[in-house]
Amino acid sequence: MLGDLQGVGEITICQIDDNYPRQLIPSPYDNWGEMAAMNKMLIDRWCIKLAVAGKPAIDVGYLSAHAVWYGPTVASKAMNIGISIIAEFRGQGIGTMSQRLLAEHLHEQGYLRVEASTDVENKSEQHALAGAGFQFEGIARLAQGRADGIHDLQVWSHIANP
Ligand SMILES: CC(C)(COP(=O)(O)OP(=O)(O)OC[C@H]1O[C@@H](n2cnc3c(N)ncnc32)[C@H](O)[C@@H]1OP(=O)(O)O)[C@@H](O)C(=O)NCCC(=O)NCCS
Repeated sequence: MLGDLQGVGEITICQIDDNYPRQLIPSPYDNWGEMAAMNKMLIDRWCIKLAVAGKPAIDVGYLSAHAVWYGPTVASKAMNIGISIIAEFRGQGIGTMSQRLLAEHLHEQGYLRVEASTDVENKSEQHALAGAGFQFEGIARLAQGRADGIHDLQVWSHIANP
């Protein structure tokens, strides 16, 4: 999965496992506080790599996806994606490009619906999702508890071409 981001470089996303040395990317939207003791949530992960003019590609962020079931059939399984870009690489279109690449990759895997939920205050992610071809669907009220309280989320979706 490769995208050419003009003036920035080439973006690729590659799947990683739990042992991959992911950098810590602080963000108020990822500050969870005490995590729930739950059955292990299966999360697929990708790193986002940027290659500039022949130099070795470097990690500039990470993507994740977890299943959301809307019924007990294969066609009812959607994937909900998340993203984190290292602060110094934000604002160059990388978040937009890499979420588009991941949505297209998941459609190729057979998922009709790829969704993303983001805080109602997270304007940069809302712009990135719109730029990546996601559509705003509505508000999931009091959907996410983080270290600083419980938050409403915007729900966005990216639908496979019929
Ligand atoms: C949200 C995030 C992934 C966006 O990635 P990015 O590479 O910085 O985004 P892009 O450069 O593709 O920019 C996306 C859009 O956001 C806009 N934008 C950037 N910062 C903004 C801000 N503070 N307020 C409003 N818009 C902003 C850009 O102008 C662009 O909009 P446009 O295409 O309409 O011009 C990144 O900022 C990040 O990792 N943030 C911390 C973690 C996080 O919030 N993850 C999402 C949790 S759901």
